[in-house]
Amino acid sequence: MANSDNPTLSRRAMLGGVAGSAALATVARANDPAITEMQEWTQYLGDGVDAAPYGVPSEYEADAVRRDVPWLTADPVSSVNFTPLHKLEGIITPNGLCFERHHGGVAQIDPAMHRLMINGLVDKPLVFTMEDIKRFPRENRIYFLECAANTGMEWRGAQLNGCQFTHGMVHCVMYTGVPLRYLLEEAGVKTNAKWIMPEGADASAMTRSIPLDKALDDCLIAFAMNGEALRPEQGYPLRIVVPGWEGNMWVKWLRRIEVGDEPWHHREETSKYTDLLEGGKARRFTWEMDVKSVITNPSPQAPITHEKGHTVLSGLAWSGRGNIKRVDVSIDGGRNWRPARIDGPSHDKALHRFYHEFDWDGSPLLLQSRAVDSEGWVQPTKDALRDVRGTESIYHNNSIQTWHVRKGGEVENVEVG
Ligand code: MTE
Ligand code: CO
Repeated sequence: MANSDNPTLSRRAMLGGVAGSAALATVARANDPAITEMQEWTQYLGDGVDAAPYGVPSEYEADAVRRDVPWLTADPVSSVNFTPLHKLEGIITPNGLCFERHHGGVAQIDPAMHRLMINGLVDKPLVFTMEDIKRFPRENRIYFLECAANTGMEWRGAQLNGCQFTHGMVHCVMYTGVPLRYLLEEAGVKTNAKWIMPEGADASAMTRSIPLDKALDDCLIAFAMNGEALRPEQGYPLRIVVPGWEGNMWVKWLRRIEVGDEPWHHREETSKYTDLLEGGKARRFTWEMDVKSVITNPSPQAPITHEKGHTVLSGLAWSGRGNIKRVDVSIDGGRNWRPARIDGPSHDKALHRFYHEFDWDGSPLLLQSRAVDSEGWVQPTKDALRDVRGTESIYHNNSIQTWHVRKGGEVENVEVG
């Protein structure tokens, strides 16, 4: 582990600090029932290998679940639930915890009856079965997907109490799929083609316009996530992966790709997924997800439970424009910043995990994190973002989040001026 980029935390200083605080474990007590009493699990045989053909987490982890916000859910078939970011480690989201956003419920598709059509400005309109698609060369790539509306409820002020709700419209998995370029080459794209329009087979028949350049660059037609078939919620049997760009473009249950010479201006790119500015103008075609980060622990759903001493702060950072070069954290509301330690793989357009270990004196804190990406973009404060975009927006809020840690370790969502 190299701490050379973190002058405040040499290995020696860290170990010294841990030993010095002397509060990382209790001295063994003779009357601790967890040691002195025979627990049930040591007295009886456990479950056999036939108990769980598809494994599930320990019953003690029942809290690590997707949750919705009742007042945001008029009808569950056109709504959203959120990834429990405060319960996760590393950079990969387990399949069963990836947030879901759908506009017409989860389509349950028989893969034998599923087809992908490519039509429009192509030499030969084609139809692929799932088997056809699996005969093209595959690639495995790790990407985050973030809904453009993630953190949208926080534009005008601190509102939702938990990073699950403020930032949980993001997930990051390894996709297996075929580069879209191969399928388009097979159909033969005409020289005047400039756009593609993926379409979903669900009841909402979701459509978005995507520039052909992006489609030929790094889009994937994915059929697997984290090593297994896509989950129905995530678009089984096929979805388009649009790396770094807003989640709405990642059409699920993908059944058709039309090739055209201009954008279609469908609902999802006109009345929705445009950013209303002060004065009534709107930004459109805001596809890239900007550099962003959030502290996941401590956070409102994950308070500090020890009195003081050595404390591990953990969080996530990502950018749709590349990878994360640096994350700084502040424990005093942005007055002083320290470099956080990024740990684990650093992939372009994927989540990054960061940590900051510090000695908590038990007094109130204002926790913030600020990420910088490989293109040099710096995550803005809320005020800086509002200065440019006003307060009417929902989409593309990548501003710095503040958590207020109270004396007893409880955490709440706040804003600092
Ligand atoms: N694709 C279809 N066919 N139908 C949908 O409702 N929702 C979109 C996108 N693709 C949607 C869709 C939106 S708004 C987002 S943010 C992502 O899917 C969510 O992907 P997830 O459910 O895998 O998290
Ligand atoms: Co969305």
